[in-house]
Amino acid sequence: MGKQIVITGASRGIGFETARILADLGHSVIAVSRSEDGLKKLQSTSAGRIIPLSLDLTRPDSVQRIIDLILKETGGVDALIHNAGLLINKPFPELTDSDWMDQWQLNVMIPVRLTRELLPYLNPEAHIVNIGSMGGFQGSSKFPGLSAYSVTKGALSILTECLSAELASQKVSVNCLCLGAVQTEMLEQAFPGYQAPLNPGEMGEFIANFTLNGHQFINGKILPVALNNPG
Ligand SMILES: NC(=O)c1ccc[n+]([C@@H]2O[C@H](COP(=O)([O-])OP(=O)(O)OC[C@H]3O[C@@H](n4cnc5c(N)ncnc54)[C@H](OP(=O)(O)O)[C@@H]3O)[C@@H](O)[C@H]2O)c1
Repeated sequence: MGKQIVITGASRGIGFETARILADLGHSVIAVSRSEDGLKKLQSTSAGRIIPLSLDLTRPDSVQRIIDLILKETGGVDALIHNAGLLINKPFPELTDSDWMDQWQLNVMIPVRLTRELLPYLNPEAHIVNIGSMGGFQGSSKFPGLSAYSVTKGALSILTECLSAELASQKVSVNCLCLGAVQTEMLEQAFPGYQAPLNPGEMGEFIANFTLNGHQFINGKILPVALNNPG
């Protein structure tokens, strides 16, 4: 039976491809991003059920609008993919407080808030997938310019372990995929000219499959998904 899935950051890049693949497989996908054009393109590219929601996740009413749409369209959630992210590449001395806070807000507080407020709507056996980064994977190579971004992704990794312990009684699984480099606008802006070994479609395929099946085998884990790793 088709699952009900919510994914953030679906207007382009990895989120776009993940949403497209999940919808093409017959699942209902609430696709959240600011860009209406990006979401329209997603809808027209997919043969499946994409329910677009254009909003800025950092606005105070964003979570309520997502809940309203869940109640109207699906009633419950089987998978929640926290994919929207912000990367500001600057040397540590140049990173301002607002650079730190903007990345913290989107990369950590939005998954925190969205998870907390969506808990009552998560179906039994639901899977929360946090899209982390190798930058936030302990012991991996680190790259100059990514200190704030990597700290936020590290926080998302640890949040994964904490939530999986707290949500076990509700039969909700939580995992974090720490991605290596994927050829997207984010990577292009942060590392102009860098050639990633994977495209968003290839990574989307992996994330879609992991979201649907991974929690039958894995819970509370921080998993590197990388061939190499600026990103
Ligand atoms: N690409 C890589 O090499 C790489 C490596 C490791 C981890 N990751 C992680 O993978 C995820 C996806 O990355 P990507 O490379 O596909 O990034 P991307 O091309 O920059 O896409 C980011 C997505 O997030 C959405 N978004 C950003 N700010 C938002 C906001 N305030 N409200 C709602 N949506 C917002 C964007 O849509 P709108 O602009 O339309 O809102 C867009 O759909 C991120 O979490 C990133 O950190 C990527």
